This record gives sequence, structure tokens and C-alpha cells, in this order.
Amino acid sequence: MFRIQSRLMSSGPSVRRQTLLERFSMKGKVCLVTGAAQGLGYEFCRAFIETGCTRLAILDLKDEAAQRAAREIKESYKNTGIESTGEGLDIVGFGCNVASEALVRQTFEKVLSHFGHLDAAFISTLGVVENYPALDYPNDRIRRLFDVNFYGAFYTAREAARHMVANGGGSIVLISSMSADIVNIPQPQAPYNASKAALKHLAASLAVEWASKNVRVNTLRFAVIRSFLSRSSRSLIEQDHEINRTWKSMTPMGRLGEPDDISGAAIFLCSDASRFITGGEIVVDGGYCLT
Ligand SMILES: NC(=O)c1ccc[n+]([C@@H]2O[C@H](COP(=O)([O-])OP(=O)(O)OC[C@H]3O[C@@H](n4cnc5c(N)ncnc54)[C@H](O)[C@@H]3O)[C@@H](O)[C@H]2O)c1
Repeated sequence: MFRIQSRLMSSGPSVRRQTLLERFSMKGKVCLVTGAAQGLGYEFCRAFIETGCTRLAILDLKDEAAQRAAREIKESYKNTGIESTGEGLDIVGFGCNVASEALVRQTFEKVLSHFGHLDAAFISTLGVVENYPALDYPNDRIRRLFDVNFYGAFYTAREAARHMVANGGGSIVLISSMSADIVNIPQPQAPYNASKAALKHLAASLAVEWASKNVRVNTLRFAVIRSFLSRSSRSLIEQDHEINRTWKSMTPMGRLGEPDDISGAAIFLCSDASRFITGGEIVVDGGYCLT
């Protein structure tokens, strides 16, 4: 009792501790999401806005798609009260092929010249989604897949960290997959699985390298998430009802995930609520990988 009292007193009346809710808030933070013109990246942008972020950069392959997403998201919050928090929403879309290190660097220069700062980077890019038995997998397609899924994530994380290291820190989240740890069936996708496993260890390694510089790197791993916009989900779930049924039956919670199911974990990892977590992974899969 005495110790608690003296600690409270020593912080003085003018120092107010952030409440837990404030630590979950993205208010005042500049955020960036890659692969955000559609699918889960698009949903994560909404999660950022709904937790107070008003300055957001959207990166996707094509300028036009990134700018359209920026416009749409901004428009969707008109008259909802979210914009009336003060500053209004500043959401900017940039075309950037993340497989090109030079383009990633140039795009970050544009983002930083617009916002002047970056607090959180969320990497949700997904390049090639396809299934070939490993015996026949075309070599050029394996390379394309790694170019985006692995190299693209590395270039983006590194560029974000270069800025964050120089500016006191930040949070980087990479999207991994349950396929990093288990071999999901029935689709034959060995290179995809391997790229996600590589990403997981990349995140852990970067977390250790950058920990002392206050740059945190975590991964978010989930099972199949239903999203009518999502290419990876749509290709399998919506076209194959048998797979849909099988996956549901293999999920202890008895359903597939919805984009909203992962938003909370995404914000937790990007926000100060997870300020002592780095190299970690949150699994959002309704128990799928446990059975
Ligand atoms: N949807 C799921 O069920 C599921 C499950 C596990 C993991 N994931 C992971 O979640 C992430 C997002 O998946 P999704 O379902 O939203 O995919 P998606 O295909 O719907 O969206 C991916 C986005 O990345 C963009 N993109 C592709 N190549 C790019 C490049 N070279 N440069 C920049 N942008 C590029 C696409 O244009 C697209 O907007 C991926 O990393 C995926 O592996 C998804």
C-alpha cells in the first residue's frame, strides 16, 4: 500500500498516465497499409480510422486503385461523426509495386513528404495466389510469389524502419498465415506456405535487430477469412462449397473468420497497447490450428 502510494505521489499531479483505452487508440498516429486497395488491407484501413487515425497512406500496385480506395474510405466516413474529431481525414493512395526496392523507397519518400512522419506500418500485400502441385510448379511463378510475399514485405518493413529508427520508434506488423505453421489442405501451395514461414522468421529476426531502437515487429496469423473483396478467399471459398464446408468443420468455433474478427488484433499490435510486445504473433483462427 505504502509503495503504491509513494509511486503515485512521485509521478506528481501534472503527469497523467495514459488510460488503457488511450493506449489502444490510433489517434494522432500516421499509419500506412500496403495491399490496401482491396481485401483485408482495405479492412485494416477502416480499423485504423475507427480507432482514431486521421492520417493514413494506402499503398497498392496501381496508383488508380490506391487512390480509389483512399477516396472510398474517406467518403464512407462522411457524416458518421468520425471526421468531426477535429482534423478531418487525410487519406492518400500511392501506386507502388512492393517487389521493387527502388519503387518502395520512392513511395516512402512521397508518404513522408506528405505526412512528415510514420508511426505504424501494416503489411498486407499478397502477390500470386494460385495452386500447382509442387512437381509442376512453374519456376518463374515461384519467383514472382517470393518477390511480392517475401521481398516486398522485407523492402516495405525496412523502409518503414529506416524512418522509425531515426524518429524514435514505431510499430510494424506483417501478415503471416496459418500456412506458415501447418500445411493447409487440400490446396497444393508449397511456395506460398514457405513464403509465409519465411515471413514469420523474418519478423522475429527484425524484431531482435530493431528492439533497442524502439521499432517493434510482430506478425498476425489467421485462418481463412471471408471477405467478398478478398481474392485469396474468393478463389477458394466462394467457388468451392465443399472446401467451405470442410474448413468450417475443421474450425472448433464452427465458422470461417470475418474481416472484423482480425481488426482488433491488428490494432492491438500497431498501437501502444502492445508496447512491450515484439517478435510476437497473434493467432486469429477460431481454434483451427489446434486440432
Ligand atoms: N483472406 C484470407 O483468408 C487470408 C488467410 C491467411 C492469410 N491471408 C493473408 O492476408 C493478406 C491479405 O490477403 P487478402 O485476402 O486481402 O488478399 P487480396 O488479394 O484480396 O489483396 C492483396 C492486395 O495486394 C495487392 N498487391 C498484389 N501485388 C502487389 C505488389 N506487387 N505491390 C503492391 N501491392 C500488391 C493487390 O493489388 C491487392 O490489393 C495476404 O498477406 C494473405 O497471405 C489471407
